[in-house]
Amino acid sequence: NWALYQDTLIPRQDAKIDIEDRGYQFGDGVYEVIRVYNGKLFLAEAHAKRMERSLKELRIPFPDCTKRVLKGAQMLVEAEGIVDGIVYLQISRGIAPRVHQFPSSATIPIFTGSASSLPRPFSYMDQGIEVLLLPDIRWLRNDIKSLNLLGAVLSKQQAKERGCYEAILERAGILTEGSSSNLFIVSRGELLTHPANNLILNGITRLEIFRLAAEAKLACKEVTYTVDELFAADEAFICGTTTEIMPIRTVTTIDAENRAYHYTIGTGAPGPLTKTLQKAFDRLVK
Ligand code: PDD
Repeated sequence: NWALYQDTLIPRQDAKIDIEDRGYQFGDGVYEVIRVYNGKLFLAEAHAKRMERSLKELRIPFPDCTKRVLKGAQMLVEAEGIVDGIVYLQISRGIAPRVHQFPSSATIPIFTGSASSLPRPFSYMDQGIEVLLLPDIRWLRNDIKSLNLLGAVLSKQQAKERGCYEAILERAGILTEGSSSNLFIVSRGELLTHPANNLILNGITRLEIFRLAAEAKLACKEVTYTVDELFAADEAFICGTTTEIMPIRTVTTIDAENRAYHYTIGTGAPGPLTKTLQKAFDRLVK
C-alpha cells in the first residue's frame, strides 16, 4: 500500500495533505486517471500530455510534467503489483495562506498519486446501461481536468439514486457529455459526438474511438446534437478510461414534479456500430 508524494513512493498511511493545500481549499489543481491493462499503462503519454495542458491553462508551473507523470504512474503500478487497475495522479498549486489569487511564485506544486486494482466492467459493456439526463450545471471550462468536481458529484449521485449508472448532461437542449465520460450517438449510420471545446473534456478514450472508427471506415463527426436527436438515435454509448465503451439502453428524464420518463435507445440492446467499436477497443487492450 503505497502513495506517490512529490515523485517519491511512501507508505500510504504516511501520505498527508496540509490543511492549506490549495487543492484541498479551492480545488486548485488538476488530475488524471490512467488505465492499467495486464500490468501495463494504457495511453499514458496522452494522459500526461493532457495533464500538462490542464496545468498550463491553470498557470501552475510544473517542469518536466510528461516525464514525471509517466515515471510516477509506472512506480505506482510496480509497487502495487497492479494487473488490471487504475492510477490516479493529481497536482495542486501547492501550500500557501488562503487567499484566492495565486500565491508567491516560490510555492511548490504538490504531486500525489495512488494505484488500485479495478476489473474491466464486462457486464455493463455487454448488457448496456441506464443513464439519467440532467442539466449540465458545471462551469464553462470542462476542457480542463480540474479538481473541482461538484457538478459531476451531484449529477452522479442523482443518477445513482435513480438506479442509473451515469448522468448525461444537457446545456440548452444540447448534449455535452457524461458526468465522468464522453457521449456518442449513432444517427443515420454516423457517429456523432460533441465538438472538443470548453464545454467537454476531450477524452483520451474519445480520441481513440475516432482512430478506431476511421480504421473501421465508420463515419464520425464532431457536431452538437439535441435531446430529441438522442431519443431518436439508433445507438448511443458513453466512453472513458474506466467505462471503456458502454452502450446506453435507456435514458431517464425527470420533470418538474419529479416524475420519471424512460426512453429506449434503438432496440434497447447494444447496436452494431457500438459492438464494432467495442471489439476493436478490446483488441487494443488485450
Ligand atoms: N472520467 N468527461 C469527463 C467529465 C470525465 O471525467 C472523463 C474521465 C471523460 C473521459 O475521458 P478519458 O477517456 O480521458 O478518461 C470525459 C474518468 C477519469 C474515468 O472515466 O475514469
